Amino acid sequence: MAQASDDHRLISVLQKAEGFLGARGCATPRLDAQVLLAHVLGCDRVRLYVDHDKPLGPVELGRYRELIRRRAQREPVAYLIGEKEFWSLTLKVDRRVLVPRPDTETVLEEARALWPAGGPATFADVGTGSGCLACALASMFPAARGVATDRSADALALAAENLARLGFAERVETRLGDLLAPLAGGRQELLVSNPPYVRSAEIAALEPEIRLFEPRLALDGGADGLSLVRALVQAAPEHLVPGGWLVLEVGDGAAEAVAGLCVAAGLGELHTRRDLAGLERVVAARRC
Ligand SMILES: C[S@@+](CC[C@H](N)C(=O)[O-])C[C@H]1O[C@@H](n2cnc3c(N)ncnc32)[C@H](O)[C@@H]1O
Repeated sequence: MAQASDDHRLISVLQKAEGFLGARGCATPRLDAQVLLAHVLGCDRVRLYVDHDKPLGPVELGRYRELIRRRAQREPVAYLIGEKEFWSLTLKVDRRVLVPRPDTETVLEEARALWPAGGPATFADVGTGSGCLACALASMFPAARGVATDRSADALALAAENLARLGFAERVETRLGDLLAPLAGGRQELLVSNPPYVRSAEIAALEPEIRLFEPRLALDGGADGLSLVRALVQAAPEHLVPGGWLVLEVGDGAAEAVAGLCVAAGLGELHTRRDLAGLERVVAARRC
């Protein structure tokens, strides 16, 4: 009896979950086990250490086991808990959208460097997904008005929800459509995008979290990974005010090719910005 209740102590449950997730190939099994348990208990991870000796009730145990089962099938933690931190904002996420990545914050660092004071009056986030970039730009530039677009109506619905939850819906409009088409009739001071840029043939080799769960529309950049980028860069000048900036997230090793596309489209003042891993992650170019 005593042994059975011991097995339901937080510490034992966590250890078992960690071992199980590790054996199923999860890269960060301890962290995942803790985040999921904290989610079930509605507490932060520190509380798990404080309460390590407490037993879990049957309802909590059942909910936790179900989440661990799904995580072992490599469903991303962000989808399991329904949210992701990005630029110090908490965004709702689910399988309609890509899970926002820390690398994408490089786009925002670039925007902040371009406008160290004040900010653009207008911006657009093309392929907004969860709305992470649009929300972050709205929070960084409180006087700016923005447009967030996506070809996926499902993604756009979630972006609209995030914009509303965070209090930005008054200033940022969502528009459905292909690339820059929804921006027709206006010109922006800042255009940002993290477009799909994985080569089609490389998708099958991605981690299960990505290839099995994230929307293919958010990943697939065509044969060379540049299909969407090419179309976006070509059309960008007519959607920018003179002096306006295009700031793009790019795939590993793609910065030079994307810079070449910008030059061919007549954009200038090109520069790149590295992510935390030291990779050229962002290309910025200006309409002269
Ligand atoms: C890599 S995800 C980026 C999402 C979000 N900006 C982020 O950084 O997490 C690319 C997004 O572009 C959208 N997308 C794909 N093709 C598109 C197109 N032709 N026009 C507009 N959006 C597109 C996808 O639905 C997806 O939401």
